[in-house]
Amino acid sequence: MAKLIVSDLDVKDKKVLVRVDFNVPIKDGVIGDDNRIVAALPTIKYIIENGGKAILLSHLGRVKTDDDKKELSLKPIAERLSELLAKPVTFVSENEGQKVEDAVNNMQDGDVVVLENTRFQDIDNDFGKRESKNDPKLGEYWASLGDMYVNDAFGTAHRSHASNVGIAEAMKKSGKPAAAGYLMEKEIKFLGDAVANPVHPFVTILGGAKVSDKIDVITNLIPKSDHILIGGGMAYTFLAAQGHDIGKSLFEPDKVDLAKQLLKDAAGKIVLPVDNVAATEFSNDAAREVVGDDIPDNMMGLDIGPKTVEKFKEILKDAKTVVWNGPMGAFEMSNFAEGTLEVGKSLAELTDATTIIGGGDSTAAAKQLGIAPKITHISTGGGASLQYLEGKELPGIACISDK
Ligand code: 3PG
Repeated sequence: MAKLIVSDLDVKDKKVLVRVDFNVPIKDGVIGDDNRIVAALPTIKYIIENGGKAILLSHLGRVKTDDDKKELSLKPIAERLSELLAKPVTFVSENEGQKVEDAVNNMQDGDVVVLENTRFQDIDNDFGKRESKNDPKLGEYWASLGDMYVNDAFGTAHRSHASNVGIAEAMKKSGKPAAAGYLMEKEIKFLGDAVANPVHPFVTILGGAKVSDKIDVITNLIPKSDHILIGGGMAYTFLAAQGHDIGKSLFEPDKVDLAKQLLKDAAGKIVLPVDNVAATEFSNDAAREVVGDDIPDNMMGLDIGPKTVEKFKEILKDAKTVVWNGPMGAFEMSNFAEGTLEVGKSLAELTDATTIIGGGDSTAAAKQLGIAPKITHISTGGGASLQYLEGKELPGIACISDK
């Protein structure tokens, strides 16, 4: 059933609690990548431009000690948000208590307040991890601050925490709406609907180090995909399952039988590398060589080879829906980045297809190539996008009211 969306809400004069995912890379107060903050702007703008008051909640990192609190305050993020919105944003250095209530009660229509990191609630209390273990009282408290709730934190949707699921449950219990934000709506549209009912040919591209991380994605996408192109470290367990020599390549011996089963279930849909860029060591300076689908004993496969790139491109050129998760090789080293970059370029060249990228490395590749604007959707979720592709129901989405 379709979910209630922020645009369905009449936010005028209303205090709107918004759960965003501002869990961005940050070091010494300097934000490494503000993509997730930028991605939340449409929802925040909708609320403030329509006369609502936006009260933002987010986690940042994992808070275990008081020391962590210094590095994981949302203050620098509130400052960046203020720059992006080109208007003042009030940061409250707590997320519970008088200071918070005063700040919320003093808000004028169009104001934005950012409360301190929700995971500061994971220490210094009797309950234990109040936020991460979803203390119902905490969800109720946060819900009591607003008239309506919007969940725009797709990146956190695989978690059942007080600040996403807890608030939504408490809101709904008191007859108030819990809606999805625009980012959440977009992620559901592309990772959920486009993948559940893809326009064919539907090509899934999977990479990354381990088969074990992607088993459920492969299982879920075998029946839906026309082709599943596999590269990266995980390809070598599949090649071993086919009886190839894989030398010193990454390998999960306990997953060989499973790889055999997946190859059988996929009935020809899984496409593996036919050649590889191999090296004697896991180093950018190591001697490298293009080899076939058997890797010499003293070498390890670190990227897909040129013939594989051509094969993948040939399949991709007719695709109407493409989902890509995971690099094709040790992409962080320039000598083994080509396969990943070439796959990224092929996606960018598809003008008549829905192209979806999830996962940090494939997203980084898209950015490095400058092709991000040519991709239909780049997910802001890491673990969340993977679990969504596994076909799992995510608690942060399930808790949103239906229309
Ligand atoms: C993420 O970056 O994947 C989300 O923000 C969730 O963070 P977590 O893995 O610390 O719960």
